[in-house]
Amino acid sequence: MHKGETMLKKTVHHCAFALALIAAPAFAAQWEPLPEKAPEPADNPTTAAKVELGKMLYFDPRFSKTGTVSCNSCHNLMEGGDDSRPVSFGVFGKKGGRNAPTVWNAAFHSVQFWDGRAPSLEEQAKGPVVNPVEMGMPTLEDAMKRVRQIPAYREYFVKAFGEDNPMTVDNAAKAVAAFERTLITPNSPYDRYVKGDKSAMTEQQVRGMNTFAQVGCTACHSGPAFNGPKLPEGKGFFQKFPVFDNELIKKYGLDEDLGRYEVTKKESDKHMFRVPTLRNVADTAPYFHNGAVPTLEEAVRIMAKSQLNRDLSDAQVADIVAFLNALTGEYPKIEMPRLPATPGTTLVTE
Ligand code: HEC
Ligand code: HEC
Repeated sequence: MHKGETMLKKTVHHCAFALALIAAPAFAAQWEPLPEKAPEPADNPTTAAKVELGKMLYFDPRFSKTGTVSCNSCHNLMEGGDDSRPVSFGVFGKKGGRNAPTVWNAAFHSVQFWDGRAPSLEEQAKGPVVNPVEMGMPTLEDAMKRVRQIPAYREYFVKAFGEDNPMTVDNAAKAVAAFERTLITPNSPYDRYVKGDKSAMTEQQVRGMNTFAQVGCTACHSGPAFNGPKLPEGKGFFQKFPVFDNELIKKYGLDEDLGRYEVTKKESDKHMFRVPTLRNVADTAPYFHNGAVPTLEEAVRIMAKSQLNRDLSDAQVADIVAFLNALTGEYPKIEMPRLPATPGTTLVTE
């Protein structure tokens, strides 16, 4: 028996809502709203000073080789937190091999990247700076040297980390991670529905929610961010994709990337990917690790076929897509920060 069914039975004995529950079966899923605050690690509590500094670093393109690429170039916070492209363009217009996932609610991920190669947001933030097709700096120290050459940054590092050698790579990464923990989007129609406002979702969205659970999407996309169960720190929730091969997988080249195997070289990690969040997924097309699938309809159809070996009807796909639209939350208002200048000189001379 499914865990949720047991719960339903228990509820039936104890609670006056039993009849209502039976009349509208919840298909055994546990529906949880997004917390109002992201979890934070003990060694990097979120403070206003770190968030302020992290936001500036996030928007500052001067720590890329060409001085043109910031985190925001590929994770646009004025929109879905991605770049709306199949794969990203970095320095010198170089193209990467994977789709940029959204940074909105990344704070709720077990581990970071499609293949989970970074255990935390702090570790993740160091990757793109030295990735040759992203920000392209030779070393993290080279990037830090540029930060130190911008005189007014010092006071922000001091405010966030104290007087004792605050301008380090680790502190810069901590600040960016602290800022990212503020990038969460609670209060979607789904959240309001789950908290008791039964008018927050349309009839079609409620139907889609039940179909989502009934066909088995919740086996992997569970929990408040729909990215799987909460695991001990540093452990990722990985699943095979595709489980069932089919013509859609071939059509979009979705079996070419070996996923986690690229990191561990373990046979059992071939085609394993960290389960992504479905929060705001309507705003983050195109889909999947290679960004080859342009519409949410097609992504849902592929998931059903490749993960559950099911062919959904057009009506079922439409209902699930309607439900996924109810996962679009309230984006906090973001204003671009004023960045400190380098009076009389520039950092980028090539
Ligand atoms: C040139 C484009 C580009 C730039 C610049 C860039 N990213 Fe990314 N980002 C990506 C891509 C592509 C991925 C996925 C790569 C992978 O999984 O192998 C990614 C992954 C991530 C993730 C993981 C999200 C998840 O769901 O696993 C986070 C968080 C993130 N980036 C934050 C940042 C931050 C912070 C910066 C600036 C320091 C940054 N990115 C700069 C393209 C970019
Ligand atoms: C067996 C686990 C599993 C099941 C079941 C499953 N998914 Fe997924 N889902 C994944 C994984 C893993 C990925 C990432 C695939 C990749 O590498 O691009 C994913 C990706 C997605 C994406 C694309 C997200 C993005 O940002 O590109 C959507 C949409 C999605 N799933 C919806 C669904 C729906 C709807 C169902 C039910 C029909 C479902 N999934 C069932 C594991 C699963």
